[in-house]
Amino acid sequence: MKRVIVYGGTGGIGAATARALRQRGYGLHLAARDAGRLEALASELGETTFTAGDVRDPGFFTQVTAGAGDAVAGLVYAVGTINLRPLAKLTVEDAETDFRINALGAFLAIQAAARALKAGAGEAGSGVVLFSTVAVAQGFANHASVAMAKGAVEGLALSLAAELSPQVRVNVVAPSLTRTPLAAAITASDTLASGIAAMHALQRLGTPEDIAGLASFLVSDEAGWITGQVIGVDGGRSALRTKG
Ligand SMILES: NC(=O)c1ccc[n+]([C@@H]2O[C@H](COP(=O)([O-])OP(=O)(O)OC[C@H]3O[C@@H](n4cnc5c(N)ncnc54)[C@H](OP(=O)(O)O)[C@@H]3O)[C@@H](O)[C@H]2O)c1
Repeated sequence: MKRVIVYGGTGGIGAATARALRQRGYGLHLAARDAGRLEALASELGETTFTAGDVRDPGFFTQVTAGAGDAVAGLVYAVGTINLRPLAKLTVEDAETDFRINALGAFLAIQAAARALKAGAGEAGSGVVLFSTVAVAQGFANHASVAMAKGAVEGLALSLAAELSPQVRVNVVAPSLTRTPLAAAITASDTLASGIAAMHALQRLGTPEDIAGLASFLVSDEAGWITGQVIGVDGGRSALRTKG
């Protein structure tokens, strides 16, 4: 059975993507910090192994790859931060943490898995999916640190899509606000959530399944001629204005 590594596999988007990949017939190797949640999800999904650890530990990535096996058909890096503050309130630590978790983590995950991704590439190539944010295509106030880190993710993806071709395809999904634990601080307020939902042409926030549909497709052989793309799943937020 073809196997896919999912970093952040117990999170909102990561778990939905893991479920969608299982429906497409892939086995999984999940990675996140909480071993209990990993174990529970692995037994629910079946054909799923896991490695517990922290993406801020550079040694974690070789452990994950070793746990996944010599050949993998894909890699999804669904770990991230939402650290929204005005420029004057952002510290060096904020910027370093956002960069480390979003960008350097994705870099190290692919570097550690590159050999296995090449070994697992069928005719359609293996599929890597990274996550950016709508706040790179459009400038939003208070997003400087996360937009800087996610901009780096988009640059990383394009560079590696060229370098690892033709065996490995690398694409990016750029969501707008999606109801997951990461976004809970924003979505917990009905007033705030409905105000933000109204800024989207499609008049609602995203669900993990909205994002997972594209992410699992991009891993799969059906996306065998798609690489080096940044694709918004954002209710129209990056491109459309319906008022004013
Ligand atoms: N939700 C949104 O509105 C939104 C919008 C734009 C982009 N995104 C991006 O979409 C991706 C998925 O986000 P999400 O909303 O699904 O997040 P989430 O629900 O918070 O899930 C995060 C996942 O990553 C794991 N994780 C967090 N910190 C980790 C660390 N230091 N080391 C290892 N694992 C860690 C978590 O498990 P443990 O806590 O057990 O480690 C969990 O499995 C991220 O790249 C995010 O930036 C999300």
